[in-house]
Amino acid sequence: MKKETYYITTPIYYPSDKLHIGHSYTTVAADTMARYKRMRGYDVMFLTGTDEHGQKIERVAKENNTTPKAYVDDIVAWIKELWQTMDISYDDFIRTTDKKHVKTVQKIFKALYDKGDIYKSSYEGWYCTPCETFYTERQLDEGNCPDCNRKVEKVKEESYFFKLSKYQDKLIQYIEDNPEFIQPQTRQNEMINNFLKPGLEDLCVSRTSFDWGVPVEFDEGHVVYVWIDALSNYISALGYGSDEDEKYKKYWPADVHLVGKEIVRFHTIIWPAILMALDLPLPKQVFGHGWLVINGGKMSKSKGNVVDPKILVDRYGSDAVRYFLMREVAFGQDGNFNNEALVQRINSDLANDIGNLLSRTVAMVDKYFDGTLPEQRKATEFDKSIEELSAKTIKSVEKSMEQFLFSDALVSVWEFVRRVNKYIDETTPWILAKDESKKDELSNVLYYLVESLRQISILIEPFMPQTPSLMRVQLGIKEEALTTWESLEIFGQLKTTTVQKGNVIFPRIDLEEEIKALEKAQNVVKEEKEEEKEEDYITIDDFAKVEMKIGEVLESKKVEGADKLLVSQVKVGEKVHQIVSGIAKFYSPEEMVGKKVIVVTNLKPVKLRGVLSEGMILAASEKKGELVLATVDKDIKNGSEVR
Ligand code: MSP
Repeated sequence: MKKETYYITTPIYYPSDKLHIGHSYTTVAADTMARYKRMRGYDVMFLTGTDEHGQKIERVAKENNTTPKAYVDDIVAWIKELWQTMDISYDDFIRTTDKKHVKTVQKIFKALYDKGDIYKSSYEGWYCTPCETFYTERQLDEGNCPDCNRKVEKVKEESYFFKLSKYQDKLIQYIEDNPEFIQPQTRQNEMINNFLKPGLEDLCVSRTSFDWGVPVEFDEGHVVYVWIDALSNYISALGYGSDEDEKYKKYWPADVHLVGKEIVRFHTIIWPAILMALDLPLPKQVFGHGWLVINGGKMSKSKGNVVDPKILVDRYGSDAVRYFLMREVAFGQDGNFNNEALVQRINSDLANDIGNLLSRTVAMVDKYFDGTLPEQRKATEFDKSIEELSAKTIKSVEKSMEQFLFSDALVSVWEFVRRVNKYIDETTPWILAKDESKKDELSNVLYYLVESLRQISILIEPFMPQTPSLMRVQLGIKEEALTTWESLEIFGQLKTTTVQKGNVIFPRIDLEEEIKALEKAQNVVKEEKEEEKEEDYITIDDFAKVEMKIGEVLESKKVEGADKLLVSQVKVGEKVHQIVSGIAKFYSPEEMVGKKVIVVTNLKPVKLRGVLSEGMILAASEKKGELVLATVDKDIKNGSEVR
């Protein structure tokens, strides 16, 4: 019989830097679901990957004296290694620099253009000259560059636009007709009320101000901008638009795109609109999860509070970290990450609850029956309650998984684990063992323990891929048929077994000592980063590359249509440089004339607002305060070098 398919995706990650525990969170969730669906008999396609184009990567690569491709290659290798250590069972890893992806994006762009859904116009945005980056109004930090906090300038460039506005009504209709499309429900309301109903604007989909992107084939100088490139990965990975599109035919539409809450909008408005324009089916669901936060705040490199998942996996193993991520936070909501909570959960849920249950059980079978469980069973009242709870647990795990309620699923499993632990205390096997006439009763109790543990090992498998086999080795379960999800259906599939005492699967951790050691390990990373920063120093040779000279402002006037810009003619020695500066708010053209200023004379000329600028006039500024021209202490001939 042909298996039903299940296509699940994570967002593709920006490889501008190494990933942190927040990124692992999305990926572990997707992996857990993929593993669960495989166990339920689906033909699963689980896709993840990297979103490698754009100005930021171009800039970071330059700062690292390398090419964008070489830069991302390194980070992508690191990411793949991380996923391997976290047991992420992706079926495909798409990189937006893959040839097949680039071709698909070009094809999609052209198809939308031919249809009239992409048209040429001009883009107005804010430009930060030192960072060489464009920002939208919303991205600005109180009107300044969100990266360096300096003043930004309004600039215009020729761009292609996608007619997003055309799809507004169709999208509202679709979302209303398909209540399962956006999950959780709160995100759906947010999309309709905050974005769709107020009206959609057409979307800028190409840029000319940087090169690191998919080239627009029919218009040299334009590269495809962010979202068409990134979102198309979900179908380019399946071979859409190529001769090898079997996977596309088999798996599309996706069953679910798992995404963080801040990109739900792109996945439920822009992506469906692109698909509608291409006459392609829409994904069945977009699930927006919450963020993992640190002390209530966002994790970010600039705050220095990012948690490195590799350190945690090295210390506690992948299963413990995965368990914590899925158990601690209700998927869909934000949740706090902290070291104490992680270690406490390892101690209580893993070492105490499940670890103890396993070692007590195995030790008793070993002690009372020489390791081999007799093959007979006669249920008592106690046992029936275990059987009933097992059936209830399986049902509730299945129900929770259908709704991405990972934490609820684990809560149910652990209720069962704790109940079984309590069953040991209720049935007191050590007392039964003293009475030869209670041998059957004793073997029955132990049988219930082993069979419950067999079931638990299956229930936790999507979350913790390594622990079940460790448990099964100790329980003596070798038969494949006893490890499947179907085998949960009947309590009592296991007939007999020979256990094998083994190591503790989750050793207890001394909380206080561990937190100190863990923080030290995390600080080591911080210290290393600080050392790396040392390499950020420039050498005297680097400095010597910057040519600075004294110049005299001969003339200055406002740049038309740009209220922050002045264009000045500055005499430097024999040469006159035309320089555009963002100082109009602080100096009038009249004030500028006659000033002796410091000029960077060997900057590559650029056009700002269409006006040629051949250098930079230096000015000092407080973080967000006014600009003050840097000038010289005594009168000195213009053209003199500044060093
Ligand atoms: N490249 C885009 C996605 C394009 S998808 C067509 C992007 N990349 S990202 O690397 O910035 O983020 C990838 C995912 O990681 C997002 O879903 C984001 O929500 C998630 N997370 C990043 N930090 C996170 C937390 N602190 N907590 C939970 N998820 C977090 O956006």
